[in-house]
Amino acid sequence: MPKKELTADMIELLVSEAKKARDLAYAPYSKFYVGAALLTKSGKIYTGCNIESVAHTPTCCAERVAFFKAVSQGEHKFRAIAVIGGKEDAELNKICFPCGVCRQVMQEFCDKNEFEIILAGRKEKVKIFKLKELFPLGFSADDLN
Ligand code: THU
Repeated sequence: MPKKELTADMIELLVSEAKKARDLAYAPYSKFYVGAALLTKSGKIYTGCNIESVAHTPTCCAERVAFFKAVSQGEHKFRAIAVIGGKEDAELNKICFPCGVCRQVMQEFCDKNEFEIILAGRKEKVKIFKLKELFPLGFSADDLN
């Protein structure tokens, strides 16, 4: 159990920051726009949007942009991330699950039992998962030993 529950206000703030970040997504190829808002344990929020490339492989998901911004500022301890994504003008009825690569990055820096992934749609109620639910058997530093 996390030491401190996320408050409803914090969840709302993270979702609204993720929505704002989504407005900045650069996704001319897929037209699938994603925003993320990453909360550090110290209470700071780092946002990210997906950034695509015509060459495809350089594309980076919103979640990883948020993580890499934060880590490049010296942050290594994270509490939660909110993600919202969907096609350009879609109603966002469906929630957008993080891809496997982003889950691997989350595992690098987050406690699987504690880190929470807040998935929001416009109409649908917010769903919250622990990292261990979305990435139960990932390759970890322990596997190197
Ligand atoms: N994408 C994200 O940014 N996050 C996800 O969780 C899933 C997918 C992006 C990558 C690409 O720019 C577009 O969505 C379609 O795959």
